[in-house]
Amino acid sequence: MRAAWYEKQGPASEVLQLGNLPTPEPEQGEVRVKLSFSGVNPSDTKRRLGFGGQKMAYPAIVPHSDGSGVIDQVGTGVPKNRIGERVWIYCGQWERAHGTAADYISIRENHAIHLPDNIELMSGACLGIPAVTAHRALFSDGPIKGLTVLVTGGAGAVGNYAIQLAKWGGAERVITTCSSPEKENQAKAAGADLVINYKEEDVSAKIMDATDGQGVDRIVEVAFGVNLPSTVALLKDNGIISAYASDIEPTPILPFYPMMQKNCMLRWVFMYKIPEDDFANACNDLNNWLKKSSTHHMVSKIFPLEEIAEAHKFLESGEATGNVIVSIDGEN
Ligand SMILES: NC(=O)c1ccc[n+]([C@@H]2O[C@H](COP(=O)([O-])OP(=O)(O)OC[C@H]3O[C@@H](n4cnc5c(N)ncnc54)[C@H](OP(=O)(O)O)[C@@H]3O)[C@@H](O)[C@H]2O)c1
Repeated sequence: MRAAWYEKQGPASEVLQLGNLPTPEPEQGEVRVKLSFSGVNPSDTKRRLGFGGQKMAYPAIVPHSDGSGVIDQVGTGVPKNRIGERVWIYCGQWERAHGTAADYISIRENHAIHLPDNIELMSGACLGIPAVTAHRALFSDGPIKGLTVLVTGGAGAVGNYAIQLAKWGGAERVITTCSSPEKENQAKAAGADLVINYKEEDVSAKIMDATDGQGVDRIVEVAFGVNLPSTVALLKDNGIISAYASDIEPTPILPFYPMMQKNCMLRWVFMYKIPEDDFANACNDLNNWLKKSSTHHMVSKIFPLEEIAEAHKFLESGEATGNVIVSIDGEN
């Protein structure tokens, strides 16, 4: 099969190579998926670079955890009627050498999740990391019906799904931050009730004004460290910050007393280690949302497999608004 892989960490155009690898056979409890699209996420490019001291865990790594396609074979113990099923992939390259940047992947059957008929395969490749992370950040700590939720970075891949899922989950008001008019439009299209340009406006003042000085119940946070001084001030008593990234300030100092005196909670989100039962519940919820709502999947740019290095560089450039997708079968 055709595949892209790297044998050492480094810049995309220096380490990513294309060629042929043996087509995998599904083992017991696995399905084999003929891939149509592969989703690129920051964790794929960070792993390729060795971010945070990550080492090469395998001699060769076919990157990308997300993807979509059609099951074409099943291993023993998997119902034969799954053959032909359209699926989205979860954890394709987490603690495994072979991800989705290839014609085929063989993977545990519960990590190939049924893709509802109304959702295009390309959208299916956007879901894995971003949608599961957004779901975890919003729903791990009880219902959000009637609450006010702040999603920082509402035009990000995770943030945009968080806005949509917060509305679907019954949040009374979803407030978000962005840095440009284009991103503001994406956040509005996702259903945000209030969009604030955090580079030009006073986020705290606008949120306090919009909430009659009450603040917010929940925060889904993409930039935990740099935003902490303002987010703690904006949080209601007993509020929750769900933090899934802190790239600019990876070792933030916690304001202990302001946080303690709000009796607030800090929820760490690391989607690769969500307990299996919670993950199964998240998949059910996500598929119900996909079937019942008009969902918005923010594809920023599509690259053919041959241009996978360009896809990685585009994601790393910070110019992408939404998901970066690699087309495996040449469609789109
Ligand atoms: N913990 C986990 O399980 C998990 C899962 C998924 C992703 N992540 C991490 O989460 C981060 C985002 O992932 P992604 O795929 O959503 O990336 P993305 O599509 O590039 O989105 C990142 C967003 O963050 C926004 N942003 C950056 N600084 C901000 C700030 N101070 N305030 C508000 N918004 C800010 C950016 O908006 P502007 O350009 O407008 O600033 C951008 O829209 C990455 O570091 C990724 O590795 C972690």
